[in-house]
Amino acid sequence: MDGEASTSAPANATEQPDANDQVITPWDVKGGADGRIDYDKLRRDFGCAEVDDELVRRIERLTGVPAHPFLKRKVFYAHRDLSPLLDAYEKGEPFYLYTGRGPSSENLHLGHLIPFQFTAWLQRAFRVPLVIQITDDEKALWRSLKLEEARRLARENIKDIIACGFDPEMTFIFSDIDHMGAGGSEGSAFYCNCLRIMSMVNCNHVRSIFGLTASDNIGKIMFPAIQAAPAFSDSFPHMFGAKKGIRCLVPCAIDQDPYFRMTRDVAQRMGHKKVSLLESRFFPALQGENGKMSASDPTSAIFVTDTAAQIKNKINRYAFSGGGETVEEHRAIGANLDVDVPWKYLNFFMEDDMRLREIGREYGAGRMLTGEVKKELIGVLQKMVAAQQARRAKVDDAEVARFTTVRPMPDLFAGARARAAELAAMSSVLFYSHQPPTNGIPWF
Ligand code: TYM
Repeated sequence: MDGEASTSAPANATEQPDANDQVITPWDVKGGADGRIDYDKLRRDFGCAEVDDELVRRIERLTGVPAHPFLKRKVFYAHRDLSPLLDAYEKGEPFYLYTGRGPSSENLHLGHLIPFQFTAWLQRAFRVPLVIQITDDEKALWRSLKLEEARRLARENIKDIIACGFDPEMTFIFSDIDHMGAGGSEGSAFYCNCLRIMSMVNCNHVRSIFGLTASDNIGKIMFPAIQAAPAFSDSFPHMFGAKKGIRCLVPCAIDQDPYFRMTRDVAQRMGHKKVSLLESRFFPALQGENGKMSASDPTSAIFVTDTAAQIKNKINRYAFSGGGETVEEHRAIGANLDVDVPWKYLNFFMEDDMRLREIGREYGAGRMLTGEVKKELIGVLQKMVAAQQARRAKVDDAEVARFTTVRPMPDLFAGARARAAELAAMSSVLFYSHQPPTNGIPWF
């Protein structure tokens, strides 16, 4: 089975790490000896499979649309059990998507947009339903936020998330604090699943996956069950009835993997299939690749609320350059693209493949200067953030209620079943390939 990892696969949270080891947990991201994250090592250590060209082409064939740049460029580079999920989809057994956000700041930063933009694309491409969990409880436990403040941030973050463009007919967004008890006379199916998971996982297990200690508050020991429960379809009777075993795909950055390792461990006992995952690299901090963009350090991050002038200032002032020290040196040896933040950011958000490759070639050879690359990046980010802000301005309370109200959601799989029927009816295999020629310049 692809993407299989044993429970004891090193989460590198609990092992006694060498001071030079990279450490990636849901709470901490630290590069290795050279300060950088070795993504291939991380994927292997976690026991995830690689997203390769064949898999990307298969997704294009199944959906009938060109791959999103995040897929084509292997921003989403690791997975667990994607192949059985796609096999089932092709045969008319659809799946649902599940992703989430822990509201630790007033607004999202650009790193947070990555899983949400990608999930919106997945929803449209595969025509499947989606649940989005807002873990205001998690942030109250970890960040000692007052519950009222965690709920307020959740409401603000939900608006940013809606602005990423989800289908209101097919999407349910919920805050843990608000939703935990919801269920009326039937009881809360979601909370019941949380309790079932809690009863199946002992403290040693949670400690070995997450590296918690006896002095952590007891909420942290229990919380992973709450992030696990939405991966089981019967947590959402208004969407899926009491049906167990509907497949689930979680798009997220690779820092969330430990949660879903635990989720996969209990799946069989819960009467469900193991959740599948598509996991991304991190959008790096402005200062460089030795960490992920973090909302708690405003100089490391560009927020969805930043003005055009703030974006320009942050990129010009803080974005780490791999260019030469002097123009002469730069012209002679070119930029080091492996460490250059503007180049990395362009790889995430510049849509034009040909222009991106041209910049990589020219900048890497020293014919383009850092200032010119930063200027291109500023234009790309200003345009994207302005579009996000325009959509966000239209999200009022009524729009929030369209996504967050527990309501009957019929025919959630009609679109996916129709697509499977189309695939079955195709006599010859449609083959999309949007891989542009590499011209020797790798992505990133
Ligand atoms: P949170 O709020 O830390 O992050 C939200 C989502 O954004 C991803 N992410 C990033 N992706 C790329 N580059 C970055 N610099 C970056 N920073 C964060 C995270 O991996 C996540 O996908 N516990 C979770 C909330 C949650 C969740 C889920 C996330 C609940 N259920 C299911 C994913 C899937 C959290 O605090 O995410």
